[in-house]
Amino acid sequence: MTKRSFASDNNAGVHPEVLKAIKAANDGHVIAYGNDHITARAVKLFQKHFGPDIAVYFVFGGTGANVLGLKSITQSHHAIICAETAHVNVDECGAPEKYTGCKLIALPTPDGKLRVEQLKPLLHVVGNEHHVQPRVISISQVTEMGTVYTKKELRSLSSFAHDNNMLLHVDGARISNAAVSLNASLKEISADVGVDVLSFGGTKNGMMYGEAVIFFDKKLASDFKFIRKQGMHLPSKMRYISAQFEALLSGNLWKRNATHANRMAHLLANELAKIPKIKITQPVESNGVFAIVPPKYIQRLQKKYFFWVWDEAISEVRLMASFDTSEHDIQEFVKLVRKTVK
Ligand SMILES: Cc1ncc(COP(=O)(O)O)c(C=O)c1O
Repeated sequence: MTKRSFASDNNAGVHPEVLKAIKAANDGHVIAYGNDHITARAVKLFQKHFGPDIAVYFVFGGTGANVLGLKSITQSHHAIICAETAHVNVDECGAPEKYTGCKLIALPTPDGKLRVEQLKPLLHVVGNEHHVQPRVISISQVTEMGTVYTKKELRSLSSFAHDNNMLLHVDGARISNAAVSLNASLKEISADVGVDVLSFGGTKNGMMYGEAVIFFDKKLASDFKFIRKQGMHLPSKMRYISAQFEALLSGNLWKRNATHANRMAHLLANELAKIPKIKITQPVESNGVFAIVPPKYIQRLQKKYFFWVWDEAISEVRLMASFDTSEHDIQEFVKLVRKTVK
């Protein structure tokens, strides 16, 4: 078997229960583009988890979910405010700017989390035609630094947004890991705390591919079906994405996978913290571990267990656990780190 690494939860394979669901969906012909019984069942499951009044649409990937979700709630004279580290800011090749036409205002944060205090100064341009108008606060939950917004933090961001004619968008590529971390349901950290639009991630939590865009106010989704098609994210064989969501959401697979990945990250961090030259740099609140490893050891470690350097300037690396990371993987990796980093 190919060895597992700590490079990314995207590097993991597909959970066997998801594969089984894909296989079961592979039966005869059904109407394409989402007008099938499997998609209807998956939509019902989203309504069960997030509330009956949502509008939900399936897309191929996370960048598409973010960009199209943002496109549907903005005009090109608007600004989208995000953290400097946000996926929409650094990892989407400018797609949010290209497709929405909006300016992204990216703010520095120590831990990937936006705070209301840093948003307030942006309001002085409201109503002034010389400036883009702040319209969306876009946050990532889990953040790109592995940290998790609390319910209180989410509520204060959504209240600030709504008090100022803005909307709260959440890149939830790892929303399941956040829910588990907060010991909350998916609804308690989205609909219940005032999130307006959510990219719901499946791929990093055991699916082969597929994400969902959820609107908590259906009016915001009035043009989404056109935006999705024009944005090239209307899957014709939708049933195979729907079947995967059904596998995640019908029982508790979403929770089992995320719980396991988070637990493995904690274990990894606890073990690495015992090694004197390694310094954990962020609180471990999900399935990511950020650590400073002296530069001269990195390549040697990467040869056996690939991972990414997150911040070259401080020799900080990112290690991700997945639904399939095992305790043995961690023991073996930590053994290697202990032997190498002296
Ligand atoms: C925070 C975050 N958002 C979104 C995505 C989705 O990206 P993709 O378009 O590769 O599915 C990722 C994937 O790495 C991510 O880490």
